[in-house]
Amino acid sequence: MKVYLDNSATSFPKPPAVVQAISDYLNNYGASPGRSAHALSVKAAREVFETRELLAEFFNLDNSERVIFSANATLALNIAIKGVLKQGDHAIISHMEHNSVHRPLKYLERNGIIELSIARCDNAGFIDLEHLKSLFRPNTKLVAIIHGSNVAGTVQPIREIGKLCSQHDAIFLVDAAQTAGFINIDMQQDHIDILAFTGHKKLYGPPGIGGLCINKDIQINTFIHGGSGSHSELDVHPAFYPDRLEAGTPNTVGIIGLKAGLEYVMKKGLQNIRHLQLGLIQHLIRELKNLDNVNVCGPEGIENRLPLVSINIKNMPPSELSQLLDQQYGIMTRSGLHCSPLAHKTIGSFPQGTVRFSIGAFNTEEDINYTINKVKEILSKK
Ligand code: ALA
Repeated sequence: MKVYLDNSATSFPKPPAVVQAISDYLNNYGASPGRSAHALSVKAAREVFETRELLAEFFNLDNSERVIFSANATLALNIAIKGVLKQGDHAIISHMEHNSVHRPLKYLERNGIIELSIARCDNAGFIDLEHLKSLFRPNTKLVAIIHGSNVAGTVQPIREIGKLCSQHDAIFLVDAAQTAGFINIDMQQDHIDILAFTGHKKLYGPPGIGGLCINKDIQINTFIHGGSGSHSELDVHPAFYPDRLEAGTPNTVGIIGLKAGLEYVMKKGLQNIRHLQLGLIQHLIRELKNLDNVNVCGPEGIENRLPLVSINIKNMPPSELSQLLDQQYGIMTRSGLHCSPLAHKTIGSFPQGTVRFSIGAFNTEEDINYTINKVKEILSKK
């Protein structure tokens, strides 16, 4: 039996409609969008436009021109962070951040460009809102927060954080790599200025596509200059979105796959997706918690949790457990630090890390029961 429980790295398998949409593009109209006036280019451009429209609707952004495509959430976060911060600015992050937020900000801090503060989190990963409040300064320009932790599964109260940011006139950047497509995100009600998403996790698109949704009045400096298919007579790159932050032939395969993934999510409905996946993770967590010598990380309940769980078995390195699960039982997990050393420090699993089981749309109760039995078997042989 094969059980894929590494959906937080990338979701697999993809819905058949995603594979079909990509194959249809490659087989039937694989032209470059927005560059030429012929029928195939126009059809490809329409698909790209409709994907922006759908994403804007999904995250409640009023203007789809402010949906920007990039290769992944990491690139999107770098574009946002480096495009808004200037010499002398102050930024705040949480103690649960992924390296995609932590590293670019540490880079800017080390180079004397910005000052950086890190808000405390408890050992389940929840941000300490009182501490966060105390960190704001007159020059706080940016607050960048991971919505759902890829390590502990902790979901942060982004609406409350968003309110604080607007009270302090700071730009609120949300890293929604793990939550876009799983938790309802409303950029207006959640006071989000910039949302970074990836297409290949909970939106079920292929790897290589992600982006930003940018709320009104937020100007991100361009980082790229080149062919945009617009104002080609000028030697300056266009200042308007989305061209401002895009250049060169886009990843049309990725965009079209993302569109089909998003349609899959919208058709199924977030509530149904959440209900099924949280039910499975709750079952897994309950059973794992009953086992001796197993340490289960993350929040107590499932209300503010993603469908993932990180564990450690006493006296067994995470890499050994993950390898055993894969090689002997066909159960695929991810071990180590998950590119998030800060989060592991917060929940007490640094430097060894954890083994993470992460659920996707195609996992079943049978997968989870099989996994529980195999973990028990490993423990009994220790
Ligand atoms: N950050 C992703 C993970 O946790 C890639 O696996």
